Amino acid sequence: MTAMKLEPYQKPLTGELEVPGDKSISHRAVILGSLAKGTTKVTNFLDGEDCRRTIDAFRSLGVGIEQEGTTVTIHSDGKESLVEAKQPIYFGNSGTTARLMLGVFAGLPLFTTLYGDPSLTVRPMDRVVQPLRQMGASINGRAEGSFLPLAVNGGGLKGISYILPVKSAQVKSAVLLAGLFAEDVTEVIEHTATRNHSENMLAAFGADIVIKNNVIRITNQSLSATNVYVPGDISSAAFFIAAAAIVPGSNITIHNVGLNKTRTGIIDVLLEMGASLNISNEKVISGELIGDITIRYENLKGTIIEGDMIPRLIDEIPVIALVATQAEGDTEIRDAKELRLKETDRIEAIASNLIKLGAHVETTEDGMIIHGKASLTGGEVASYDDHRIVMMLAVASLIANDNIVIDDISSAAISYPGFFKHLDTLKTP
Ligand code: S3P
Repeated sequence: MTAMKLEPYQKPLTGELEVPGDKSISHRAVILGSLAKGTTKVTNFLDGEDCRRTIDAFRSLGVGIEQEGTTVTIHSDGKESLVEAKQPIYFGNSGTTARLMLGVFAGLPLFTTLYGDPSLTVRPMDRVVQPLRQMGASINGRAEGSFLPLAVNGGGLKGISYILPVKSAQVKSAVLLAGLFAEDVTEVIEHTATRNHSENMLAAFGADIVIKNNVIRITNQSLSATNVYVPGDISSAAFFIAAAAIVPGSNITIHNVGLNKTRTGIIDVLLEMGASLNISNEKVISGELIGDITIRYENLKGTIIEGDMIPRLIDEIPVIALVATQAEGDTEIRDAKELRLKETDRIEAIASNLIKLGAHVETTEDGMIIHGKASLTGGEVASYDDHRIVMMLAVASLIANDNIVIDDISSAAISYPGFFKHLDTLKTP
């Protein structure tokens, strides 16, 4: 446990920075690089704990992976060359590693056992286990395979047509990855668009993947290695975007941020709330749109966030809720029940902490109502061992009128090693 006391700051944030690589894209680069034949070089990789779990998983399957900071080089002879892991594989806190790798383990004709940390052990896995069983994988675990630890006997899969029952890119990706090993066509149908990095990257690795409206089709095939540049993570940039939006007088620019439309809900919502935000230098690299985001402080008003918008900003809701405490009027977040199944129950974690700091928040079954505008006090707050809760609380400290003490900041390194240093670089001396 590493507690941290954050003193009131109350001055403008200024300057420029680049945030670490995108977590979702970093995981996928290691997964597809390990399944592809040849050498894949990944640059601007997120050297966070979650993504290291994905590297370790493939090392256990015999793939040669070298990591030097944010550059990862993967040497693989293709998916047929992977070997059985002799030990159970540890996924730590990483839901993305667990769910996506289950798709891979289901496809490999091998026996694999996997486990995670206490938080991951209570997160639902049945959402991926069910479709993978329909494809023919044998998966066993507690509560009929709903939770880690799990044991997978993979191989012999047959393609299915699967309508996503949850708005989850992790489930979509697990089924598509399994489809790379299955007989016949595997089809995923999604009624609400979720992040499409798997589809983009499969195409970059030469896969024949067909996307028509909301139907994605893939077949058993080999992938060829390619180099991947990982854009800055908009979910990490979100903390500084939010900070500049609520700290009076701020003006900051964040360079090379991923701007994939399935991820930019926070930009659309902030613009709707009245934020002053500009995008420049847009370009496409490794199949993903990137650009620079400049944001200046502006008065904000409340809004409603619901429906198809939710998957486009699901990971940003902790910090958006903080922003809403500083907007005039009410902000209502609906249709976000998935928040209760993240690294912690984020509806409770957000509301209980913001209420402790003097904000006016009511929780609902699938979201919350935030009554603005509140002046935030100091107080002792709880991380819930959740990286995004820690970083949201650190941003709150910028506008609080007394010390905020976070009980444990160590989880920030899950997705943003160096977060506190970066925050300091934006502070006026
Ligand atoms: C992710 C998808 C999202 C997101 C998570 C990363 C991914 O989860 O919350 O942090 O990389 O596919 P769901 O797809 O389960 O909503």
